[in-house]
Amino acid sequence: MLSLSLVSLTLSFIAGSLGLPQHVESRAAGCGTSPSMTPGDFKNFTMTDGREYRVWLPKNYKSDKATPLILSYHGANRDISHQVDLDKLTEPLFNKDYILVYLQGTADDPDRPTHTTWEGAPDCLSDDIKFTNEVLDAVTGDFCVDEKRIFATGKSQGGGFVGRLACDAGLSKRIAAFAPVSGAYYIKEIDVESECHPETVVVPCNASRKDIPILAFHGGADDTIKYHGDFRTGACLPDVSSWARQWALRDGLSGTPSNSSIAKSDNGVNMRYGAGLVTLVYDGDNIAHDWPSTTPNDDNEGLRLAAFNASARIMDFFRGQRLP
Ligand SMILES: *[C@@H]1O[C@H](CO)[C@@H](O)[C@H](O)[C@H]1NC(C)=O
Ligand SMILES: *[C@@H]1O[C@H](CO)[C@@H](O)[C@H](O)[C@H]1NC(C)=O
Ligand SMILES: *[C@@H]1O[C@H](CO)[C@@H](O)[C@H](O)[C@H]1NC(C)=O
Ligand SMILES: *[C@@H]1O[C@H](CO)[C@@H](O)[C@H](O)[C@H]1NC(C)=O
Repeated sequence: MLSLSLVSLTLSFIAGSLGLPQHVESRAAGCGTSPSMTPGDFKNFTMTDGREYRVWLPKNYKSDKATPLILSYHGANRDISHQVDLDKLTEPLFNKDYILVYLQGTADDPDRPTHTTWEGAPDCLSDDIKFTNEVLDAVTGDFCVDEKRIFATGKSQGGGFVGRLACDAGLSKRIAAFAPVSGAYYIKEIDVESECHPETVVVPCNASRKDIPILAFHGGADDTIKYHGDFRTGACLPDVSSWARQWALRDGLSGTPSNSSIAKSDNGVNMRYGAGLVTLVYDGDNIAHDWPSTTPNDDNEGLRLAAFNASARIMDFFRGQRLP
């Protein structure tokens, strides 16, 4: 007993004198290299194959401090600039200390040059799982990233793709937590309307761990990606509450939710599983295909203000998560 506590005292003294945090972070290869951009700024990057992403460094970025990072994915027909305006995760109100990386989807149909999409959606041909891995390889080589605190968020098709990242055998071990907003969780394998049963359809998933944190948002008035599912553009969309319940079951939790303590708007009920490892926030009866915000944004057009800011919830959620 005595010698054990002496050892732990000595260890914590050493850790304290070295200034090590309680959790030792996983430092990326980029630690110690001077950044090719100024903290507080954005910089555009283009890969050799032409794929684009944009990095924002927090003002307090230091090349010797392992820093958490968020990947953010725009919706279909949108782009990086639109997503920067929508998620506002580079604004000090929401985030002062996480690196943001915005990825650009491709427009695969030459007849629809602005129709950007993400892998998993019916008309997407590109390998965005590969793209995401390549972006992570690049940014962890260029910047001092805490590789145990890499997160993903996105809107609509970008949210659906965040769901696929969580279901990818490799990236589910590389990304700590996932926060899709108004996600389009297309199941392309079901391409016949009569075979699409949104409440019971099984979501294909190859997640590699059983403790995957999920925080999803969906509005009761979403007519684009309906809360109760749909057959849309040739693919099956699950009922969003069934999608969340399947996450709870994959994470080894009971399939019975408790009401969430974080919000309850209008008649909808938030579904919170376990101690919040999986949460589906019901944005409200009046909230459509929106990024929930208490102030006007491009989605809500100032007409459908939410009772909360999704971005604040997302940051609170990410702050509590890290890879095991
Ligand atoms: C990044 O590219 C966008 C257009 O794609 C442009 O508007 C923006 O100014 C660029 N940002 C920087 C920091 O160069
Ligand atoms: C799961 O793995 C199989 C076999 O590699 C693959 O065909 C399928 O697309 C994967 N599904 C997801 C959601 O990653
Ligand atoms: C959630 O709260 C509502 C209204 O208070 C109640 O009717 C419902 O049964 C609760 N659901 C759960 C799962 O606790
Ligand atoms: C929500 O975010 C906006 C900025 O986008 C801010 O003006 C507003 O005060 C925030 N609302 C709450 C309740 O914090």
